[in-house]
Amino acid sequence: MANKQRLGVNIDHVATLRNARGGAYPDPVRAALMAEAVGADGITAHLREDRRHIQDKDIYALMDALTVPLNFEIAATAEMQAIALRLKPHAVCIVPEKREERTTEGGLEIAADQNRLADFIIPLSEVGCRVSLFVEADERQLEACVGVGADVVELHTGAYCDFHAKGDIRATDDELKRIMRCTALADELGLEVHAGHGLTFGNVGPIAALSEVAELNIGHFLIGEAVFMGLEPAIVEMRRLMQQARA
Ligand code: PXP
Repeated sequence: MANKQRLGVNIDHVATLRNARGGAYPDPVRAALMAEAVGADGITAHLREDRRHIQDKDIYALMDALTVPLNFEIAATAEMQAIALRLKPHAVCIVPEKREERTTEGGLEIAADQNRLADFIIPLSEVGCRVSLFVEADERQLEACVGVGADVVELHTGAYCDFHAKGDIRATDDELKRIMRCTALADELGLEVHAGHGLTFGNVGPIAALSEVAELNIGHFLIGEAVFMGLEPAIVEMRRLMQQARA
């Protein structure tokens, strides 16, 4: 049971906005420092193979500027592993990546890729990174996570959020139950449990309420909401809703 749930703010889409025009504005590092100043417990950034949002220079700048931990999201490729080994961020979250997708659509297929992932994780663990694996809420994946040497599992909440957005109450509830079974099992297996993808003010409550979930990673909605209410109030409100759900 994790009492204080951490909020990791994903700043990828500040870089998306910057890259729409080239140049340096808006600066994702500035957003990360603002998030840190209003109590984000960590910053998440995904360096995609195609560099569509975060760039290598952003990751280096984040490593220099942050006082909270950086959760470095990467695909399991040799190029990304080399960058992570050079930078030694606090955490590395391994995600699946497909070139055609708009965002990280599904979770990793750990069981099918066990040997390769285990070999990928060993050097990262050896340099002190906490390694997390982004998976669908599927019990089959969790034992495999332990088998490959992960410290953390991050459960993909995208399906739950999509059903919630469509107003499909039964499917939302079924998906939530699946996530609940997985958080309990992951906890039993000794994995720290994180969750994220698609979380908003409107759907965060039931996920934040899960006692085993130690950390939520939230990006797109917060950056979008920053357009309307400002980044700092958006983060403060998200934090308030997380605490309310846990109270
Ligand atoms: N966690 C992981 C592993 C992700 O890949 C993402 C999206 O990049 C998130 C959390 C955050 O998702 P969102 O931007 O939808 O809040």
